[in-house]
Amino acid sequence: MCSSSGRIWFLTDRRIKDDYPQQEILRALKTKCCEEDLDFRALLMDEVVLTVEQGNLGLRVNGEFITSYPQVVVVRVPTPWVQSDSDITVLRHLEKMGCRLMNRPQAILNCVNKFWTFQELAGHGVPLPDTFSYGGHENFGKMIDEAEVLEFPMVVKNTRGHRGKAVFLARDKHHLSDLSHLIRHDAPYLFQKYVQESHGRDVRVIVIGGRVIGTMLRCSTDGRMQSNCSLGGVGMMCSLSEQGRQLAVQVSNILGMDVCGIDLLTKEDGSFCVCEANANVGFIAFDKACNLDVASLVADYAISLLPSRLTRRMSLLSVVSSASETSEPELSIVPSSTGVDVPVPLHHHHEAGDSMSASSSSVDSDPDTATERELLTKGTIFNMNQLLASEIKLLVE
Ligand SMILES: Nc1ncnc2c1ncn2[C@@H]1O[C@H](COP(=O)(O)OP(=O)(O)O)[C@@H](O)[C@H]1O
Ligand SMILES: [Mg+2]
Repeated sequence: MCSSSGRIWFLTDRRIKDDYPQQEILRALKTKCCEEDLDFRALLMDEVVLTVEQGNLGLRVNGEFITSYPQVVVVRVPTPWVQSDSDITVLRHLEKMGCRLMNRPQAILNCVNKFWTFQELAGHGVPLPDTFSYGGHENFGKMIDEAEVLEFPMVVKNTRGHRGKAVFLARDKHHLSDLSHLIRHDAPYLFQKYVQESHGRDVRVIVIGGRVIGTMLRCSTDGRMQSNCSLGGVGMMCSLSEQGRQLAVQVSNILGMDVCGIDLLTKEDGSFCVCEANANVGFIAFDKACNLDVASLVADYAISLLPSRLTRRMSLLSVVSSASETSEPELSIVPSSTGVDVPVPLHHHHEAGDSMSASSSSVDSDPDTATERELLTKGTIFNMNQLLASEIKLLVE
């Protein structure tokens, strides 16, 4: 199989290659690349040798010197492991060689450390629970007094923790002091205002290419604060208010993510604030709860990033912009004031209401293709400005 219209790689780690998301993405990419006559190759991190020879960056894979580089590389590397230099070194190398990584290394780094994520998001008007962290090694102890203004009970997290395992709810000062002696100080901790209304409950939003593709309400089943599925939490599809959708899209955009899972906490008034963002989002529970095929949407988005597709978009844009001059804009967004509603039957559920998208495509179809097709056949039922905005966003990123 060979074609000049595009080259895509899938790059993951040997230790996770058999897990559901990687297997599913591999399947989807293989199928779609074959259908569309694109070059496809799956690689493992440990197969790659990075070179600088005669002053130029190069790449060897299993002894073979690579001459045709991928245009798009879909990356699946567990965020905690990116903490070791080797993975990020590979990603940086590929990016410097001109490959479009999905997600980009900087975006992945923005999510490696929960406090780094908040540093990125701060100053953009994004609702965040008040959060403190500290400098100096093993300086957890000094925060026992400093963080008191956040009030007890207080949320304490290892900034590099994941799966809900290094998140605690500290009752009082004594508890905090006990924790300080018990925890591992391999990474700094953060101290965060407890969002009580969200105890044992949060909303996982998956955003691909700046569009909300689905939302899942997660609930703990044993009274604990953490709603992570890996700790026994259960997920079900839910609808999300316009504020929640816009927030998830905004967070994804600020962090520079192509594919991500944003966790939102519910506040007393039903609005949302940001808990964390995940660059290497898992989706086994999500697929099940939302009756979605996230991997397929990931593959579609990867293909849409190929330069040949972007060129196609560009010419489509000129059609769209001339059509927009004569058409009536129409918004398909129905804002909800109630935050979360569950359950919503999939086929009646309208998932296209994020701020960047006003297409009427259903969740289980390729939004871009459906939008383009319907646009060209039906003509005027879309808000052209919003469609243009999302297309332009893809072009200029
Ligand atoms: N400030 C908070 N207030 C209330 N619940 C929280 C808060 N922070 C986290 N949680 C709960 O704990 C879970 C795990 O926290 P999170 O920051 O997402 O860490 P992890 O990376 O381990 O998933 C969240 O999904 C949420 O249910
Ligand atoms: Mg989480």
